[in-house]
Amino acid sequence: MMKTPSICSLLFAFLVIFLCSSAVSSDGHDDFLQCMSLQSNNHTSISNIVYTPNNTSYSSILNFSIQNLRFTSETTPKPLVIVTPVHESQIQPVIYCAKENGMQIRVRSGGHDYEGLSYASEVPFVILDLFNLREISVDAENKTAWVQAGSTIGELYYRIAEKSQTLGFPAGVCPTVGTGGHFSGGGYGALLRKYGLAADNIIDARIVDVNGRILDRISMGEDLFWAIRGGGGASFGVILAWKIQLVDVPEKVTVFTIDKTLDQNATNIVHRWQYIAHKFDEDLFIRILIRRVNSSEDSKRTIQATFQSQFLGGVNRLLPLMQRSFPELGLQREDCTEMSWIESILYFAGFPIESRDVLLNRTQPNVRYFKAKSDYVQKPISKNGLEGIWKLFFEEEAEEAEMILSPYGGRMDEISESAIPFPHRAGNLYKIQHLVYWEEEEVEATQNYINWIRKLYSYMALYVSRFPRAAYINYRDLDIGVNNNGNTSYAQASIWGIKYFKNNFNRLVQVKTKVDPANFFRNEQSIPPLNSW
Ligand code: FDA
Repeated sequence: MMKTPSICSLLFAFLVIFLCSSAVSSDGHDDFLQCMSLQSNNHTSISNIVYTPNNTSYSSILNFSIQNLRFTSETTPKPLVIVTPVHESQIQPVIYCAKENGMQIRVRSGGHDYEGLSYASEVPFVILDLFNLREISVDAENKTAWVQAGSTIGELYYRIAEKSQTLGFPAGVCPTVGTGGHFSGGGYGALLRKYGLAADNIIDARIVDVNGRILDRISMGEDLFWAIRGGGGASFGVILAWKIQLVDVPEKVTVFTIDKTLDQNATNIVHRWQYIAHKFDEDLFIRILIRRVNSSEDSKRTIQATFQSQFLGGVNRLLPLMQRSFPELGLQREDCTEMSWIESILYFAGFPIESRDVLLNRTQPNVRYFKAKSDYVQKPISKNGLEGIWKLFFEEEAEEAEMILSPYGGRMDEISESAIPFPHRAGNLYKIQHLVYWEEEEVEATQNYINWIRKLYSYMALYVSRFPRAAYINYRDLDIGVNNNGNTSYAQASIWGIKYFKNNFNRLVQVKTKVDPANFFRNEQSIPPLNSW
């Protein structure tokens, strides 16, 4: 419910307009600012959380959580306003005023969207950046936590470890990823085979809907609660917080990283891994990173497969298990290190395991230009097929390219395809993330790298899932289809929607129709309501 403005608020409105937009008369944001001040409870705080291009902090606030340099250029469309609420009550006026003024809202938590959808749009828009809403309260006794959506998974892991050495959470590898986007799209990491996705372990949530109401699981109902656990949050409202089920981890886990180049039998070992990695004991997660490197022996280019593992147990249990199930890798005791689960988070993220405080950093040390795509593999790729991939990795544009193969099986096979909107369960051996990075900012160079990854993607078509060629929404890829700007048809949205969600797309459309029939919360890949068929 929106409030009737008082004299005080009217006076404040003039003050805010004067302060924030003195140099602007028709940029489109002054009406929004006026509305904000009229609708807000605590007026003094509003001026501290609203940034327009006239504000000296505007660019730094806009850029600080952008994770892909592709969307930092001058030609990337910029928001008219950025709002950084410090209290949940400051979100309702943003929704109301954006609606009133024909502006779109882009909600940003960690800013990792691969296509920049949380901070760039071709239509007039406001960024609602939640980075100030990052309170985390861990209840170790009941093994639960409430996590505000603006917090990162690094902050979450840190706060869990403060309370307990034997509790963890099955979310992603990169600590700067935001819980708002990550959990609402699925979210996985090294605990995937034992405990499934982050979204599988959400037990309650709080959301602001299109009418500005704050709802929890009971008041939003099971349909909407289902939709935001894997269907992408941006279509349904502004997620404020998640209640999550923490999971048990042993006091000591074991990690290892083993590199194999082509001379060291990489092709055969990768080939073999495809047959067994999804069947390993569910305490064992071994992923593969494929890159081109210069061989240490003769400096010649070769392909390197890096086998990186987390095992939920000690080395004495791991070694016989590896000997039995994957002797081809030749794992030795000296390759293994035992450590706590929180140390393994740092290890996987590439940090020294002593540097726990880096988990609290919200900015990545190494932000680059990149484009990514995803695939699901349901039948092992032949050795010939793998060799064709290697050939593409020897091309010029692939100097900084990477493929990450993450094994499924275990808990992922036990959860039904429709339990949450994320549908990629039994039947998938592993997921591939295709990535290409580059340094040059020129448009032509960018196009060359993007062409290269598109070529790789078309080569892969023979070897991966079909009908649909499935994709992971958290590895957002606008190449697989986009909505019209404005109204989109169900048919058009289903081109990309079925790839991300399979049959769950239809239920997502039904939920959207119920909770946001006018399609206020929309973007290039948001779920359309039925009336836009
Ligand atoms: P961002 O803020 O950009 O949001 C992403 C989308 O969610 C946008 O559409 C946004 O509007 C919406 N959204 C965000 N917060 C919302 C909220 N509170 N309410 C409603 N909608 C909201 N994935 C994975 O599963 N495992 C991994 O290990 C990794 N690792 C990884 C590393 C790096 C470096 C990057 C760049 C990305 C990953 N990812 C990943 C992918 C990641 O899960 C994905 O990009 C998430 O959507 C990121 O969530 P953020 O909140 O950071 O992004």
